[in-house]
Amino acid sequence: MAVEALSEEQAQAELARLADILSRANTAYHAEDAPEISDADYDALKARNAAIEARFPALKRADSPSEQVGAAPAESFAKVAHAVRMLSLGNAFDDDDITEFDARVRKYLGLGAEAALAYTAEPKIDGLSLSLRYEDGKLIQAATRGDGSVGENVTANARTIDDIPEEITGAPKVLEVRGEVYMSHADFEALNSRQSETGGKTFANPRNAAAGSLRQLAASITRARPLRFFAYAWGALSEPLADTQKGAIDRLGALGFSTNRLTALCDGPDEMLAHYRKIEQQRATLGYDIDGVVYKVNDLGLQGRLGFRSTTPRWAIAHKFPAELAWTRLEAIDIQVGRTGALSPVARLTPVTVGGVVVSNATLHNEDYIRGLDSKGNTIREGKDIRVGDWVQVYRAGDVIPKVADVDLSKRPAGAEPFEFPARCPECDSEAIREEGDAVRRCTGGLICPAQAVEKLKHFVSRAAFDIEGLGAKQVEQFYRDEWIAEPADIFTLKDRFGSGMQQLKNREGWGEKSATNLFEAIDEKRRIAFGRLLFALGIRHVGEAASNMIARVYGEWEGFTAAMDAAADQVGPEWERLLSVDGVGEVMARSLVTAFAQDQERASIDRLTSHLDVQAAEQPDTEGSPVAGKTVVFTGTLEKMTRAEAKARAEALGAKVSGSVSARTDLLVAGPGAGSKAKKAAELGIETIDEDGWLALIGDA
Ligand code: IVH
Repeated sequence: MAVEALSEEQAQAELARLADILSRANTAYHAEDAPEISDADYDALKARNAAIEARFPALKRADSPSEQVGAAPAESFAKVAHAVRMLSLGNAFDDDDITEFDARVRKYLGLGAEAALAYTAEPKIDGLSLSLRYEDGKLIQAATRGDGSVGENVTANARTIDDIPEEITGAPKVLEVRGEVYMSHADFEALNSRQSETGGKTFANPRNAAAGSLRQLAASITRARPLRFFAYAWGALSEPLADTQKGAIDRLGALGFSTNRLTALCDGPDEMLAHYRKIEQQRATLGYDIDGVVYKVNDLGLQGRLGFRSTTPRWAIAHKFPAELAWTRLEAIDIQVGRTGALSPVARLTPVTVGGVVVSNATLHNEDYIRGLDSKGNTIREGKDIRVGDWVQVYRAGDVIPKVADVDLSKRPAGAEPFEFPARCPECDSEAIREEGDAVRRCTGGLICPAQAVEKLKHFVSRAAFDIEGLGAKQVEQFYRDEWIAEPADIFTLKDRFGSGMQQLKNREGWGEKSATNLFEAIDEKRRIAFGRLLFALGIRHVGEAASNMIARVYGEWEGFTAAMDAAADQVGPEWERLLSVDGVGEVMARSLVTAFAQDQERASIDRLTSHLDVQAAEQPDTEGSPVAGKTVVFTGTLEKMTRAEAKARAEALGAKVSGSVSARTDLLVAGPGAGSKAKKAAELGIETIDEDGWLALIGDA
């Protein structure tokens, strides 16, 4: 109906409808990277909205779409670089994992089994972590964890949370409090029923509700949703809070933060496990979700010595509660082909709710798993195989992909056949082979296999890799199908190949002038890319995000790294040794890396890609003033004041490279009592040699 013909009542209804459609379109476009309406339709709806508002100014809504001006409605938060990285925790699943954790900590610290070593034990809150920065007692910034290095600035929203004090007295000048934002069960239920009454979005669980509420652009919406906060850690500090973890938590409590009353001090694994059971018993009546218990070394001096692995502290671990289970029917087994060619069997299930989440797909791991065998050929599930039609048990824990855990033979339908795993790739019909010692059958099609190519591309544009706005999994699939891109390098020639590129894209469903321009801009932005991201994005088997970043830090520059991979191609010699000495790089990963760079096709594809890129050298660890930055150090003989692992980690944190053998490249040998051939070789080569005390004096720890 023409705007001029609308009655006031009709106009009001129409504005409500438009606000709804446009807000849905915005979310689909900006937050989900999956536009649902064309840009032209979007613009037309917006114009109609504006025309109605112009005729009936009094009817303009508080959430009017016209307030979200321009191409990109303010759909994102400002970024915040964390002064101290926000890490995650290693996981433990049973009692043995906890005794092993204690043994690992003791070994690293060089403590005997008898030495006293206390830990705190506290609930692991199932929410989202938040960092609060106070300066001179005033809250100045709140940030989400993001990728650990850079989070989102949610200060205005955090200020609406009652548990978060605006001002505190008696705190260090700079105090970054960290903890978990969560929603209680009661508030979650109330929110969901309010949402369904008003036709709003309901949430699957309290954690999603908490995340969705905190990450709201309008602080007024966050305010209307009761969130809570527990403090359990800290980041930047101008002075220490206490000498112990427990002391620090008590101090945060005294400053006015909510801390968890179930935090206990334990003398060792027995007490930790006892406290775990106590928390587990109370779990159902706490009124909020927890998914395990976190143990932390109590002495902060020892925490400092233990330090961090790439993404997790050595001094803490999360002991997860057992996963949740449900039984349902296995309707089909599909085979998916991954980016490394792995054929993965996926269970299609009659949908079932497991721990509050509806599950309709689950992993079946590999062909042996279906047959009732583990990776070593031992029987699992008492040797029961899994067949289509079976009644199966589904298991899911936290964010883990659900898996089929068990099968009920008493309910097996008559005539159910054993599953026959395909010997050819279902996508490209190449032979699928299983190499000796590999549990996985792989497609041999390489780049000719469309599934591998698409999965590689999807991985390439994923969040921890190139993270190109507007180019998500869906778009990549579409572009691949249309033969616009076949490999990563093609993404960077898209615009040129299409002249302005607009014409082709604009004619596609879901694409308009605006989104095409945005896409090309987003691609251009990523021509400058960090070394670590680039390496991870290549999707080389076994080479994950943490290892990629570590390798980037060690090698610094991309060119030097590729040259080093060439030099290490034969898997012998100093460059091969150097690769193996990188923290977190084992033989399997090293082999996979050098093979990828040595394979003509793959290498050519990598080189084509990098010709379009400006690869940024990795940031070196903050080693300003470090006397050993950039030096290659070798430890030999017995160390008395620290363990070898600790010495290595400390040296690396100071920017040194630690090597296992003495060569002409060695800058410094640290020799304890009993040093033998390495000390001799160092003397022959004229390499500076010092003892442990000399080392500690050098790095300022004596
Ligand atoms: S300590 C350096 N304590 O669990 C590690 N984390 O799975 C600092 N979490 O990212 C974290 N309850 O968001 C710690 N009592 C607790 C926790 C806790 C929940 C979350 C946190 C962390 C994640 C790791």
